[in-house]
Amino acid sequence: MSLLEKVDTKTLPTYDIPIMYGRINRDITLTDDKVMLRPYRLSDADSLYRAARESLKELMVWMPWAHQEYSKKESRDWLKERPGKWKKGISYDFAIFNAADGSYMGGCGINDIDHAYRKANLGYWVRTSYTGQGVATAVTLLLAKWGFKELKLNRIEIVVATNNKRSLRVAEKAGAKREGILRNRLIVNNSACDAVMHSLIPGEVL
Ligand SMILES: CC(C)(COP(=O)(O)OP(=O)(O)OC[C@H]1O[C@@H](n2cnc3c(N)ncnc32)[C@H](O)[C@@H]1OP(=O)(O)O)[C@@H](O)C(=O)NCCC(=O)NCCS
Repeated sequence: MSLLEKVDTKTLPTYDIPIMYGRINRDITLTDDKVMLRPYRLSDADSLYRAARESLKELMVWMPWAHQEYSKKESRDWLKERPGKWKKGISYDFAIFNAADGSYMGGCGINDIDHAYRKANLGYWVRTSYTGQGVATAVTLLLAKWGFKELKLNRIEIVVATNNKRSLRVAEKAGAKREGILRNRLIVNNSACDAVMHSLIPGEVL
C-alpha cells in the first residue's frame, strides 16, 4: 500500500473556508447616484454583445476575451456560466447600468478569489460611449464595499498594465494603494507586459 493510500482524507485538517459557497445572495443591486450593478442574467446577452462590439477597439487592447470576431454566442456562453461560477465562489460578475435611465454601460466583477487568504481581484470595463464620466471609479467603490462586506475579503487587488493610463487613473481615484510593479503579469496586444499592483483594504472604502 502506498503512503497516499494510507491517508484518511476525513482526518486531514480543513481550513475554515471564509467565503460560503452558494450562500452569497444573487438577488441584489448595488447602487449610487451614477450606476446600478446587478449580477448578470442570460437576458443581458444582447446588451452585452452590442456594448462589447461597440467598444471592441478599446477592449481588444486590454481584455483577453475581446477579439475582432467576438460573437453573440460568446456573450451567451459566458452568461450561461455566471450562476454556476457565483455559486461555487469562483467569480462574482455584475452588469453595469446607468442609474438614471437603465442603459447598459459595461461589466465588472470580483474574481481570482483566494478563499484561504480572503483576497481577490477586481476588474471592470466600460462601453466606449460611457467612458470619461466616472463610471469605472463609481463601480470600483461599490464593488469593493460589497466584497468587503459580503465576501468578507481582507484585500482586493486591481492589476493594471503599466501603460493603461485610464485604468491606472481609475485605481488612483478609487483610493487604491499603488504597491509595485509585477513583471510580465498581463498580456496586452498579445504580448506580456508589466502591471501595477494596487490594493484596497476594508477600512479604506467602508
Ligand atoms: C479603463 C476604463 C475602465 C475607464 O473607465 P471610465 O468609466 O472612463 O473611467 P473614469 O471615468 O472613472 O476615469 C477615467 C479617468 O482616466 C482619465 N483619462 C482618460 N484618458 C487618459 C489618458 N490618456 N491618460 C491619463 N488619464 C486619462 C480620465 O480623465 C479620468 O480621470 P479624471 O476623472 O481625473 O478626469 C475604460 O476606458 C475601459 O473600459 N477601457 C478598456 C478596458 C480596460 O482597460 N479595463 C481595465 C483593465 S485593468
